[in-house]
Amino acid sequence: MLPAKVRASVCGASRRILNSFRFYCQKTTRKQRICEAISSVEVGAHITVQGWVRSVRLQKDNLFLHVNDGSSLQSLQIVASSDLNDRLLTFGSAVEVSGNLVKSPSRKQDVELQADQIHVVGECNPVDFPFKIKERHSLEYLRQFPHLRCRTNVFSSLLRIRSEATAAIQSYFKENGFIQIHTPVISSNDCEGAGELFQVEPSGQGTDQDKENPHFFSVPAYLTVSGQLHLEVMSGAFPRVYTFGPTFRAENSQSRRHLAEFYMVEAEISFTKSLADLMKVMEDMFRSTTEHLLAHCADDVELFHKHVAPGQRDIVDLMLKKKFNVITYSEAIDILNHSSQTFSFNTDWGCDLQTEHEKYLVKHCGSLPLFVTDYPYELKPFYARDNQDHPEHTAAAVDLLVPGVGELCGGSLREDRLELLRTRLAQAGLEETYRWYLDLRRFGSVAHGGFGMGFERYLQCVLGVDNIKDVIPFPRFSHSCLL
Ligand code: 4AD
Ligand code: MG
Repeated sequence: MLPAKVRASVCGASRRILNSFRFYCQKTTRKQRICEAISSVEVGAHITVQGWVRSVRLQKDNLFLHVNDGSSLQSLQIVASSDLNDRLLTFGSAVEVSGNLVKSPSRKQDVELQADQIHVVGECNPVDFPFKIKERHSLEYLRQFPHLRCRTNVFSSLLRIRSEATAAIQSYFKENGFIQIHTPVISSNDCEGAGELFQVEPSGQGTDQDKENPHFFSVPAYLTVSGQLHLEVMSGAFPRVYTFGPTFRAENSQSRRHLAEFYMVEAEISFTKSLADLMKVMEDMFRSTTEHLLAHCADDVELFHKHVAPGQRDIVDLMLKKKFNVITYSEAIDILNHSSQTFSFNTDWGCDLQTEHEKYLVKHCGSLPLFVTDYPYELKPFYARDNQDHPEHTAAAVDLLVPGVGELCGGSLREDRLELLRTRLAQAGLEETYRWYLDLRRFGSVAHGGFGMGFERYLQCVLGVDNIKDVIPFPRFSHSCLL
């Protein structure tokens, strides 16, 4: 038996050796994301990357792979001895690769990974896999594979842009003093009054007791069509609030700008009597989010502007350079009626603006975003403020129309005068249902207003994507199959 002092010193030494070994392992086989590896200045470092094979090329002595892990558009080039080739190493397979990061002799990339180990984690039969190496599949083709399309360059770019745009919108609101409110997904109100509601009930069979009241929540419940009314509740205590969440509309439409489930950004501002205050927030949010995307997702955005919508970059630059235009609904009707174009839908004062009208108006006003204000009162939901001082009967409502898409945002000042609101609700037979909403006007009420922006339409507008189904991970629309 060794003396205690010697035993302690041996233990200490082995602990030190173990720690140095751990440190050595950590230092020498660090796991890295591909975006870190390709921008690394640590040439010579031994790293491990994990991802999916985007290309394979076997030469006599060398094997070349491109591996992507979704962290950037650019893949990491792997160079290995052809001895490391494996027949399972195919386009689409999942791999783990270790090796030294070295300076690349090619101008296409700064660094490449000189692999000493390649492990195929998940094989992928290239014959059955619906995407083919080197082929640029159309967005329409990719839409048939909602469970696989995230593995293509274009869709992974879209998903990174979507994630970055979400963060940029949240930052805009945070930096401008807005409080985020999680408005409910299940609600009893039809805020827009358009009847495009999905009803919510338990899927199980009701019991005898349930027959007395067939509804789970004691009143009919629906998936929300807008968080506005709940935001209005909060605007009685916080002057600036917003919400950003899924929104549902049972529109039986196969259009390129409608979904049954989409994301809406909504803001509500208290102590304002002016549509200009709302328009400023809409314009500022659009600008700051778009500038953020151009700066932080440059490669991903460029892919869309180069391969999906050539010419779109100029449109975006123009939108950012110039101030948005503003016209009234009555001026819009005048413009349409003086146009030499024939429209399928009527353009009499009082008509709702259709996509063909919106597109014409945007083009007529310089292909810039266009605010249209003061719509006919009867076209707008019960909450819109009556412009009593206007010669025509209008509401203080505003839509933002943008090139290529049409309506991007819809908003209004809210009717804050208790008696006017009560009368309008009574006429619609809704006074009882909206008793709580009338309360908001009875206790500490202030003039306020807000708007909603369709998040997918925003992405369509910036990226130039024609079909809304191509800017959301899992599109839901009438008669679509669901994953
Ligand atoms: O114009 P909307 O219906 O306005 C409201 O819901 C207000 N309550 C918002 C508010 O004031 N807080 O919808 C707002 C925006 C539209 O301009 C459009 O961009 C988008 O939401 N939108 C849709 N996007 C995709 N699919 C649909 N079915 C959409 N319906 C509306
Ligand atoms: Mg609208």
